[in-house]
Amino acid sequence: MIRRPTESRSSQDRAASASWGKREDMVVHGTDPYNAEPAPHALANGHLTPIDMFYTRNHGPVPDLDPETWRLRVDGLVATPLELTRKALQEDFEQRTVTATLQCAGNRRADLNLVRRVPGEDLWGPGATSTATWTGAALAEVLRAAGLQGDARHACFSAPDLTGLAHPPQTYGSSVEIHKALSDEVLLAWQMNGQALPAVHGAPGRVVVPGYIGARSVKWLDRVTGSLHPSDSYFQETAYRLLPADGTPGPGIGMSLGPVALSSAILVPADGTTVPVGRTDVQGYAYAGDRGIARVDVSLDDGATWIEAALDDQAGPWTWRRWRIPLPLQEGKARISARAWDTAGATQPRSAGEVWNPKGYLNISWARATVIVVPAKERSPSGPSELP
Ligand code: MTE
Repeated sequence: MIRRPTESRSSQDRAASASWGKREDMVVHGTDPYNAEPAPHALANGHLTPIDMFYTRNHGPVPDLDPETWRLRVDGLVATPLELTRKALQEDFEQRTVTATLQCAGNRRADLNLVRRVPGEDLWGPGATSTATWTGAALAEVLRAAGLQGDARHACFSAPDLTGLAHPPQTYGSSVEIHKALSDEVLLAWQMNGQALPAVHGAPGRVVVPGYIGARSVKWLDRVTGSLHPSDSYFQETAYRLLPADGTPGPGIGMSLGPVALSSAILVPADGTTVPVGRTDVQGYAYAGDRGIARVDVSLDDGATWIEAALDDQAGPWTWRRWRIPLPLQEGKARISARAWDTAGATQPRSAGEVWNPKGYLNISWARATVIVVPAKERSPSGPSELP
């Protein structure tokens, strides 16, 4: 069952959110490890997501690492293996800032689960997507300082968090192709929104891979390895791969996920809420990595007709576009649909059933929200939202 954003949070969820510096109204999918996303109306409020409501996805316990003793090893297909302190990372390389949206491959899995159960996975709503300004050193510069060899094809990332969600249990790891690792936008970050990276987001340092699924942005990074092959971590070899609907997860089975897919979400009014009759500001986001969003359409008649929504300004090549449109809602049940188009002219498939897959990744189908429209005085206190 989907946990609706209007439900009250349990005291355990609220305590867990507070202990990680998150708002009380986070939608918590698990407290051990802590996994949580912002309530949709909160996420709608700004282009940058404040740290206290940025979604967080953890496969194991959050490591408590001392920045003074933390080291980043750079090895594998390099001429000179490095062992960098955080001070060296901060002082020996140019400091860069990139604003980037991070999106979990499981974003909007809850809607896939309504079509057919996705066993053993957290049922994320549209909030496993958030945007921050990241500050750090370019991974490319660090790899060049180590003398990356020409035959390296992948940069593999390792972290110390041990997780029983992998088979067999192991620490977290992942990789990206070398062309992406050497792109200017990929950072070894120590700051988020101008503040020190919090533990739950990867302190003392993490990689941020803009435009790729969140799983590749490894937190608590302790090793970068130049390699001929992708990471042999469970999270590269078996998880975060797209299977056909009748596939069975296993090493090397399915399509390894890297660049994000075209997607969109409706945040306000949130699915399952009650709104007053009349003009309602419908708001959401759309994201397609560096392909960029060209248009978002919204429909009140299940796609028979569409109206174009207004897009906010593109704040940079690696961020979502937020969109909004005032729609006249009549008493009864309103089913709102949205679909985005990227700059290459691709758009989203209509139904979640078309894209269902056993691990519940990449729900790229039309965004949907069903709301109850009532005369103004009956409006529920739970309803939407401060508008930006
Ligand atoms: N890195 C480590 N070491 N352990 C993890 O569990 N989760 C990944 C990625 N990096 C993860 C990790 C996934 S699936 C996502 S979506 C992002 O971190 C989430 O980053 P955030 O918690 O900062 O939002």
